[in-house]
Amino acid sequence: MKFVRFIMKNAALASVPKHIEHFSKFSPSPLSMKQFLDFGSINACEKTSFVFLRQELPVRLSNIMKEINLLPDKLLTTPSVQMVQGWYIQSLMEILEFLDRNPDDYKVLGQFVDALVTIRNRHNDVVPTMAQGIIEYKEAFPQDLVTNQNIQYFLDRFYMSRISIRMLINQHTLIFDGSANPVHPNTIGSIDPHCQVGDVVQDAFHSAKMLCDQYYLRSPDLILQEMSNKKNHPVSIVYVPSHLYHMLFELFKNAMRATIETHENSNNLPPIQVMVSLGDEDMSVKVMDKGGGVPFRRIENLFSYMYSTAPAPQIGEHTRPPLAGFGYGLPISRLYAKYFQGDLQLYSMEGHGTDAVIYLKALSTDSIERLPVYNKTALKNYKVSQEADDWCVPSKEPLDLSNFKGAK
Ligand SMILES: Nc1ncnc2c1ncn2[C@@H]1O[C@H](COP(=O)(O)OP(=O)(O)O)[C@@H](O)[C@H]1O
Ligand SMILES: [Mg+2]
Repeated sequence: MKFVRFIMKNAALASVPKHIEHFSKFSPSPLSMKQFLDFGSINACEKTSFVFLRQELPVRLSNIMKEINLLPDKLLTTPSVQMVQGWYIQSLMEILEFLDRNPDDYKVLGQFVDALVTIRNRHNDVVPTMAQGIIEYKEAFPQDLVTNQNIQYFLDRFYMSRISIRMLINQHTLIFDGSANPVHPNTIGSIDPHCQVGDVVQDAFHSAKMLCDQYYLRSPDLILQEMSNKKNHPVSIVYVPSHLYHMLFELFKNAMRATIETHENSNNLPPIQVMVSLGDEDMSVKVMDKGGGVPFRRIENLFSYMYSTAPAPQIGEHTRPPLAGFGYGLPISRLYAKYFQGDLQLYSMEGHGTDAVIYLKALSTDSIERLPVYNKTALKNYKVSQEADDWCVPSKEPLDLSNFKGAK
């Protein structure tokens, strides 16, 4: 029996590349916030969601697995990246088992929910594991600009794909596991149709403040202001509160660290100011600190996965959570913002402080998933080679004008 299972497992494994080839030919289907809500409200139909997901999840997984294969060999073969790749293969195989199952059988639907939970747990540590792979790679090989750009391009797409796959899995498992959410009875899966932005700001600030107090024994205060075209109404949008919380928590940790390190010798800490504003098209949140700012030249680096000023925490280290980490706070937060067609930008004035702005869509009809697709354009992006710059490179040596004098 064991032997038969072994043979079957190997046969399934051998057919994986064929499946990846097949499913990566489909483009992922981005869902709108409205579609997410429909899946989970009056029209909630577990069977429809099951039939959709057993096709869509393999499509999203296969699209990104094609891109994993395009990584530079030296990175692809690190133990960490191999591990991540193994998880993707395993999860793909587990979903494919449902392709020929009967959607009318409630037992099958139950097994599908269980499979999704297993998959979600398996992928919990993808970000730190991938980060570990990058560290291993950085330590072993000299970095060049083109590889850095490729890795940046890949990780933005890889993590965006991951955010979207987890969103699909969360919606299905939260809505169809048969129990209501006791803490937030009005949420639909992970979406709050009336997400009060000010409340999320307060929550995220409070958590960052606790960390900051633990670490530095003091922390700046919060000043929160809300502007809305609907007077006297707290700003609210249809959104995933956990995503907004994630972004704000990262911004607050950064703002607090900068504020404290810049005002080390002062008794007073300037507060962190937050402005929440709702317009017809955008809902924006600005986090302002007086933490000394960042030189303009460095701003783009802050979104790079290859760059952080804080020493990297070791995986599995069970000390208190650090206020700064792998340097992934900003890039991942920007992905969360972009996932539903928003963005996250930094405006800094060196010597003064930094404003970080999260832009989200005010209307749920504009909030549509932004998903990477594997195609010729994507492939081309991995093939860019180092070419000569079409802007002059300023010389470090001052030009010797005496050469020109003699030519008169
Ligand atoms: N508000 C800010 N003021 C000054 N520097 C900042 C601010 N936000 C981010 N930074 C700089 O950007 C770097 C990257 O931030 P982040 O992506 O959150 O990673 P981490 O905090 O783990 O280093 C920080 O290490 C810090 O040097
Ligand atoms: Mg940070």
